[in-house]
Amino acid sequence: MTLFLGTFLDTPEDPFAGGSLRSVENGALLVREGTIVRRGTAQALRSAHPDEEIVDLSGGLVLPGFVDTHVHFPQVRMIGALGMPLLDWLEHSALPEEARLADTDYAGEVADEFLSGLTSAGTTTALVFGAHFPAAVDLLFTRAAEIGLRMTSGLVVSDRILRPDLLTAPQTAYDDGLALAKRWHGVGRNRYAVIPRFSLSCTEDLLDSCAALLDAVEGSWFTSHINENLAEVATVCDLFDQCDNYLASYHRHGLVRSHSVFAHNVHATPGELEILAQQGAGVAHCPTSNSALGSGLFPLREHVEHGVQVALGSDVGAGTGFSLFKEGLQAYFMQQLLGERGLSLSPAHLLHLATAAGARVLGLADEVGDFSEGKQFDALWLRPGAGTPLDIGVRHADGPGEALGKAFAMGTTADVARVYVAGHPIGSSR
Ligand code: GUN
Ligand code: ZN
Repeated sequence: MTLFLGTFLDTPEDPFAGGSLRSVENGALLVREGTIVRRGTAQALRSAHPDEEIVDLSGGLVLPGFVDTHVHFPQVRMIGALGMPLLDWLEHSALPEEARLADTDYAGEVADEFLSGLTSAGTTTALVFGAHFPAAVDLLFTRAAEIGLRMTSGLVVSDRILRPDLLTAPQTAYDDGLALAKRWHGVGRNRYAVIPRFSLSCTEDLLDSCAALLDAVEGSWFTSHINENLAEVATVCDLFDQCDNYLASYHRHGLVRSHSVFAHNVHATPGELEILAQQGAGVAHCPTSNSALGSGLFPLREHVEHGVQVALGSDVGAGTGFSLFKEGLQAYFMQQLLGERGLSLSPAHLLHLATAAGARVLGLADEVGDFSEGKQFDALWLRPGAGTPLDIGVRHADGPGEALGKAFAMGTTADVARVYVAGHPIGSSR
């Protein structure tokens, strides 16, 4: 067994439902085969288990590994293409890059860059938009399994409107997806997700084939985009006969389920929120992407009031990086900018959105998301460089809540010193 020492912060009780930050300074977690078996103070657990190996993560903060509920594997090289709204950005920037992943060598390099981006940011669990090419997705699963990341991903499919080299057909989408799922679903920490890009680029037949695949692969997940940009919403409503809203284009194909996660939902209507809540589907809130593409200010209060589960997504590459510290801060900013319509977020809310809420949205809340006994030890060690403003802020903070606020205000990937999945370090450490 291993005894991890440090200051541990987590949010096992949902702060949106009255829960508060849990913290233990000079704490210890006893981990056996990846699972937390005891938690307590360093003093108590050290004297009860004097012979166990010690890993000292004192100084800085230890947080549950981040859960990124929306991020695109093929887009790591084009982060930072600023100045365009969604549909122009897709045409001129994202989709030309996605087409390059037809080349498997290129896709392999991008897979390594992508996974390194995720893990070095402290992300240990992710719902990942794969590529439009099965060989590229196969490589991504291979590398993720080698690293040990908890990844849910799959083939991205479309059969209209996009550039022709990204299109497939409903039966091919089903066959390719099933082959990938048979190879990777449940292998290591990989799970399969069915991923139509967005209903704008998918015919009714393709969405039917997605539902059939979802039924065929037990325990698979579903993800897509929704209500991101007003021009996109108007186009979807034109394309689908007798659809009152964007969600209906998925719902009439049986794609709004408790295993479904929809990214963005900036322009949600009350009727859509009701259905999302009824079905137990999740929403990935992607604040830097919504800002960079000018998509809009996310109606978090309305989601919470309707009982829709929300977690954070980086949405790389429309989002401006892999760090969920940055996403948390941007989420906070945007709620402040909404004034009375906004939901003022505490550091505990931000940590919850970046960890336990993501685990719940992905159906992994029994395994990860906080440091309770019985959970896996997935963690990031935030240890800022000595003398940096973040280091000074954390050391002089008046309690853990204040320290956590500073982590979200100033923390970056460079401050993440070590990352653990199931008790094992992943990626490079310092
Ligand atoms: N809608 C369809 N495809 C995409 C994408 O790649 N990024 C974002 N942000 N929205 C999308
Ligand atoms: Zn996206």
